[in-house]
Amino acid sequence: MSRVAIYPGSFDPITRGHLNIVERALHVFDRLIVGVLDNSKKTALFSVDERLGQIRKAVGDDPRIEVDHFDGLLVDFAERKGATVLLRGLRAVSDFDYEFQMAHMNKKLFPEMETMFMMTGEDFFYVSSRLVKEIAALGGDVSALVPENVFTALTGKYKRS
Ligand code: PNS
Repeated sequence: MSRVAIYPGSFDPITRGHLNIVERALHVFDRLIVGVLDNSKKTALFSVDERLGQIRKAVGDDPRIEVDHFDGLLVDFAERKGATVLLRGLRAVSDFDYEFQMAHMNKKLFPEMETMFMMTGEDFFYVSSRLVKEIAALGGDVSALVPENVFTALTGKYKRS
């Protein structure tokens, strides 16, 4: 049986920390679906289409990776995709409360799905999309924290605004 995992998130934008999880997840799962949350209530810097394009370019053309978007409940998306593992990266203890609550809630909603956590790589455990945007907006160098195409997109975005 092939092991399919969903790796969901806002990915606004995808960082090298996320990519580190994607890369390592492929050692554990046969297929990985990167699920981008399309939430009109949350103001994002990049549109869903921009984020999908950025992720696809950053992960390359590995046939084991699918990049798609979802709105509504994550468990419904996972069920539609035939995934039984929900993968999340864990950075610091501060991530834990939110992840703990979400994992249990998702288990209630879709008992067949297991949430699994991967510790974010040591070089990236301090990286977050929020900080990357803040630093880029203030003219700081985030080239080591995001893939090259995202760096270019961030530079373009903040040059225009
Ligand atoms: O990268 P993020 O922003 O921390 O990802 C959060 C995400 C997308 C995983 C979470 O907000 C989510 O699953 N949203 C979809 C709506 C949903 O299913 N909510 C109930 C969660 S228990």
